[in-house]
Amino acid sequence: MDNEIKQRLIAKAKEGMSNAYSIVFDFKVGAAVLTNNGNIYQGCNTESVISGLGLCAERSSIYHAVAHGEYIFEAIAIVSKLEEPIKPCGMCRQLIGEFNQLSESNIKIIMVGSKGKIIESTINDMLPAIHGPKTLNLDLEEYCK
Ligand code: THU
Repeated sequence: MDNEIKQRLIAKAKEGMSNAYSIVFDFKVGAAVLTNNGNIYQGCNTESVISGLGLCAERSSIYHAVAHGEYIFEAIAIVSKLEEPIKPCGMCRQLIGEFNQLSESNIKIIMVGSKGKIIESTINDMLPAIHGPKTLNLDLEEYCK
């Protein structure tokens, strides 16, 4: 992946982090997805006092892209204030994995720590053997653009 694009993706994830609504855990997370059209959509965790209603930054960034009609993702960057890069939770991995089935891209997951440490992986490595739309033989064509 081109280093300039990667840096832009990380910068957008940081911008997302600055907008996080972390009223419950006081823990801000930012994410940004890069689409096959070269566009970047940022997201942030949005917490709630109602159990189960909060949203992680990763899913926020994906929903942001979907709201703009983009479904094919090349990479997602995730940042938090922790020195050790933060890893996406199981629900976020599932959602990334579902969208991964729309293409052969094997979405890159770029996890970034507060002092610049970066861990790179892929969704196939972080959630192999997924149950997704392909498993159900659903018609993906409308979203594969
Ligand atoms: N969180 C994320 O947004 N992404 C992650 O990868 C892990 C955790 C959020 C959820 C919650 O708002 C807060 O961080 C503490 O878990």
